[in-house]
Amino acid sequence: MIMNKRKFIASGLTLCLGAASGKLQALEFYPVGSERKWAVVYGTWCGSARDAAVWISEGMGGIAQVFDVRENPDLSAYEFVVIGGAIRGGKVSDELQSYIAKHREMLRPKLRGLFAVCGNRMQPVEAHQKAELIDAPLGALLGAGTDVPSRAFLGRITYSLMDEDSRKMLQGFNMPEYDNLKRSECMDFGKEILSKVR
Ligand SMILES: Cc1cc2nc3c(=O)[nH]c(=O)nc-3n(C[C@H](O)[C@H](O)[C@H](O)COP(=O)(O)O)c2cc1C
Repeated sequence: MIMNKRKFIASGLTLCLGAASGKLQALEFYPVGSERKWAVVYGTWCGSARDAAVWISEGMGGIAQVFDVRENPDLSAYEFVVIGGAIRGGKVSDELQSYIAKHREMLRPKLRGLFAVCGNRMQPVEAHQKAELIDAPLGALLGAGTDVPSRAFLGRITYSLMDEDSRKMLQGFNMPEYDNLKRSECMDFGKEILSKVR
């Protein structure tokens, strides 16, 4: 009993120290072992792009490590990279834009897939929207060599996860909450990416 109490206090202390040093990780996705090192990096505000990223990796058999771009991951040791992000006002997050701009030369030869998560007024994404939803927000940042599999997924609106200004703006348009992200579609995209590499 005393040992248990000591262990409990010690682990609590470790957590507190970890938080104080900024090392505490809220979410880790542990990939399944693979001969090739894959990473999926995403930018999100409310989490739908994070779920898409995890499900893309699951479609690949769980072999890709999944990173929030705010972790500023070092992807130099990875062989292949998939990049994606949520769309607001036709763009991905500032953090994802800066990350791509900073690491463009390293990322480009490793790039094997691009994805966006969008609202698209709750309408199905049409093929001709690739320019608006993939090429403009992501492809243009990466420049040449981005002719890789790409997909725009419909996402979610969850008001409780949104900053106040965005919530007010969307509620002003009478936008309902919705959940249009499909795990099966994300997994299929992961399978497609993998099939093009083998
Ligand atoms: C403030 C705001 C602006 C948005 N702008 C767009 C947009 O320009 N085009 C679009 O298709 N969807 C837009 N959306 C919908 C988001 O792309 C959608 O909710 C997505 O699932 C958000 O992803 P996240 O949960 O990863 O942040 C917008 C959503 C918000 C809250």
